[in-house]
Amino acid sequence: MINNAIPLRIAGIGYSVPETVVTNEDLTKLYDTSDEWIYTRTGIKERRLVSGNEDALSLGVDAAKKALDKSGLKPDDIELIIVASSAPPQLYPAIGCRIQTALNIPNNIPAFDITAACSGLIYALSIARGYIASGMYKNILLVATDNNSRLLDWSDRSCSILFGDGAGAMVVTASDDGVDDIISLDIRADGSIGDIIQLNLQGKNCPLVEQREESNQYIQMNGKEVYRFVARVLPEYVENLIANANMKAEDIDYLIPHQANLRIIQAVQERLGYANEKVVTNIEKYGNTSAASIPLALVEGVEKGKVKLGATAILTGFGAGMTWGGCIVRLREGIC
Ligand code: ACO
Repeated sequence: MINNAIPLRIAGIGYSVPETVVTNEDLTKLYDTSDEWIYTRTGIKERRLVSGNEDALSLGVDAAKKALDKSGLKPDDIELIIVASSAPPQLYPAIGCRIQTALNIPNNIPAFDITAACSGLIYALSIARGYIASGMYKNILLVATDNNSRLLDWSDRSCSILFGDGAGAMVVTASDDGVDDIISLDIRADGSIGDIIQLNLQGKNCPLVEQREESNQYIQMNGKEVYRFVARVLPEYVENLIANANMKAEDIDYLIPHQANLRIIQAVQERLGYANEKVVTNIEKYGNTSAASIPLALVEGVEKGKVKLGATAILTGFGAGMTWGGCIVRLREGIC
């Protein structure tokens, strides 16, 4: 971090999920699978999927309203909007711009989207941290919203079982008491293995040049390779994140990981030697909601009484890119 960096306060967090619940049993109407197969390999029992007019924008707006409400800030106070989404309704306008309008946030502030898949919230937080640290902006709205159900091949039983739709949002501000809620933050990428999860855009090339071959427009994932990569990299990465912050695993109250696969979460848990009480999971109910999954697990953990505020937590995620990241945060009273 830069010298004389302005510390960051996490002021409010919210989430939003669609109404419609789709169980593993429901998926057996689409292809040959079973609740037992899905649950034992992933930890997922059901997920929420958008219907009607719901999409990444509507979910993101709803989550952002809740985060704003908790933060005590008004739309007028927001100086920058960053949205992490890999499944937006449109490539442009950016969802950030549409959320700005939907929430009556002043129409002369910057708003932009980033793509870091399931690591999106941590990437967005890292960008916001830099702006706040430098004094450039004071109040920033972060939204992580994904609607992967519209991008899945619903005949691909090894991929479509995994995902759910959802959004999370966070309002961060310049800390007014000198305490930095980000104890440590780190983001990474390795593009050399990017093809293990990919989503190609459809669209013919210019008719004046030779047409390229169209590729499938759905999420393509080599689940085994993703699993292998993450199970190898993430536990050690989280361990190093803690050591680099001059902390010990026992100094931190909760592990709130990206909810991609229960077995991966358990590998990190084992490495840190954490009891189940310290590990927040809700993959059983929501599946993998991509960038939304960390704030969704955090706020729901608080609502259910599993996470007590006034504590510290490690947030960590990984996703397409491959990207990954982690941060150790202070969770103040009243943020959700
Ligand atoms: N129901 C029943 N059988 C199935 C299903 C299903 N839903 N899906 C696959 N199978 C079958 C396969 O056809 C295969 O059968 P075969 O041996 O006769 O060929 C067998 O089960 C094994 O298939 P695999 O794909 O090898 O299954 P695997 O044990 O690897 O489990 C899974 C698949 C659950 C996807 C696992 O690889 C995984 O969780 N990987 C990690 C994925 C992940 O975390 N993705 C996050 C993405 S994050 C982001 O940024 C988007």
